[in-house]
Amino acid sequence: MPPAAALLGGYLLGSIPFGVLLTRAFGAGDLRQIGSGNIGATNVLRTGRKGLAAATLLLDMGKGLAAVLLAAWLLPGEAPLAAAGAFVGHCYPVWLGFRGGKGVATLMGIALGLWWPLGLVFAALWLGLLAATRISSLAGMTAAIGTPVAAAMLGRFDIVPLLMALAGIVLWKHRANVARLIDGTEPRVGAKKAAPT
Ligand code: G3P
Repeated sequence: MPPAAALLGGYLLGSIPFGVLLTRAFGAGDLRQIGSGNIGATNVLRTGRKGLAAATLLLDMGKGLAAVLLAAWLLPGEAPLAAAGAFVGHCYPVWLGFRGGKGVATLMGIALGLWWPLGLVFAALWLGLLAATRISSLAGMTAAIGTPVAAAMLGRFDIVPLLMALAGIVLWKHRANVARLIDGTEPRVGAKKAAPT
């Protein structure tokens, strides 16, 4: 029962589409019809509403963090399952016909909750690459891949398989971004247009 509760509770928390809800509530339009059509903070930024983008980033990160911490508190030993549930909920939310986000911010929160040094590694990779390239997808994918590598290097082999699986989903969700990176058309942060995914 606790495993199912962790998975389902994590999923329900992760499936809250903050980007869609905030842009709708504050009159910034339907996020799925804007830019890349993605429901994450990068696409919210393309509406020109920096505050909403920052809120989306924090809330998408916060739901991953909250799922892990709540499970660690209420269902000891089940935090990894809650993390998996929250991540899948964000990427495949039932409320949006299973067409959700790409998982970067939620994974950052999950990494922070599972073991805070990994959250710092994720944030450093993501922010560093973002500052250097201004390409959000490249920064997010690099951070997602780098986090299980860092976990292994720091001896946290227990969470490496989970982090590798979640990084795999991040890459899969970014497949259209990867195609654009290869042909040189991936937009940089600050550009208003992005091809739909
Ligand atoms: O976290 C999503 C980001 O990596 C890419 O977003 O809208 O440019 O596809 P987007």
